[in-house]
Parts: sequence; C-alpha cells; structure tokens
Amino acid sequence: MKIITSVKDQREYCQSLISDKKNISFIPTMGNFHLGHQSLFESSAKDEISIASIFINPLQFDDNNDYISYPKSLNEDIDILKLHKIDCLFLPNEKDIISDLMSIENILLPDIFNKLCGRYRANHFEGVFVIVKKLFEIIQPSKVYFGRKDYQQLLLVKY
Ligand code: PAF
Repeated sequence: MKIITSVKDQREYCQSLISDKKNISFIPTMGNFHLGHQSLFESSAKDEISIASIFINPLQFDDNNDYISYPKSLNEDIDILKLHKIDCLFLPNEKDIISDLMSIENILLPDIFNKLCGRYRANHFEGVFVIVKKLFEIIQPSKVYFGRKDYQQLLLVKY
C-alpha cells in the first residue's frame, strides 16, 4: 500500500490514475478504525482503486481538548488498511492541507445544519464541509464511502 503525506504528491498520483482511466473510490476518515470503518473498506476493496485518508480535522472540533485527546492508532490502522487491500493511504500533514482551505466564516450552510447536532457544535459542519470539499478536490473520486452513523453529515456530503 502506498502512503502519501504531501498534498502535491497525492494530487499527482490521482491525476495519473485518472489519465489511465482508473476509477477511484475514496474513504475519508479520522482514523482509529472500528468495525464500521472496516465494513466500508471491505466494500471498497471490490472497486478498481481504493484510497483512504486519515486526517483528524481540527476545524470540526468546537472544544480543543476533544481535538487533542482524539484517539490515535496509526500503526493498527495501517495494518487494517493493508488487510483490506486498500491501494493508498493519504495521510496529509496538517499545515499542508489546512494552509489553502477556504475560511469557514465564508461558508453559509442551509439552516438544517444549525439544527440537531449543529445546535450544540459551533462550526462543526462548516469544518467538515471545508475538509471534505478539499479532500474531494485532491482525490477526485468517482465513488465515496461514508458511515451512516451521522445522518446530518451524510446530508452535508450530498449537499
Ligand atoms: O466522519 C468522519 O470521520 C469525519 O467527519 C470526516 C468525514 C472524515 C471529515 O473529517
């Protein structure tokens, strides 16, 4: 399995796959895999090229302590990805990916994202939106896999 940490290298790798007419499936994650993630990897392993990302996105945490204490298990996660025959892990370095993101103050999401979970988590969905948008731009997937645990997040991805 390829492990790529630079945005530039990941972009180039995906562009070369696309020029070779390969279909890319993408599974964005924040790591610390559980069985839910594994079922997504299992489904995507049937696809032509599967790329997973692990990035703990600081922008979607309203409490910095939650961000700092978010569980990390990179070595185990890499073993799981290899087991599921994922072709590539994108493990972006924080400065690299955050540096040219659109500012979350400029994002105006539909009102539904201020309801339910959004009422209690300031800027959470805006933070998810910018990072997912950025990852999609870099990877340019033809198919994506998300867990269903967060219905509002699923609506956001469709949006
Ligand atoms: O559901 C998650 O793990 C995260 O919100 C996501 C989609 C990877 C964006 O950081």
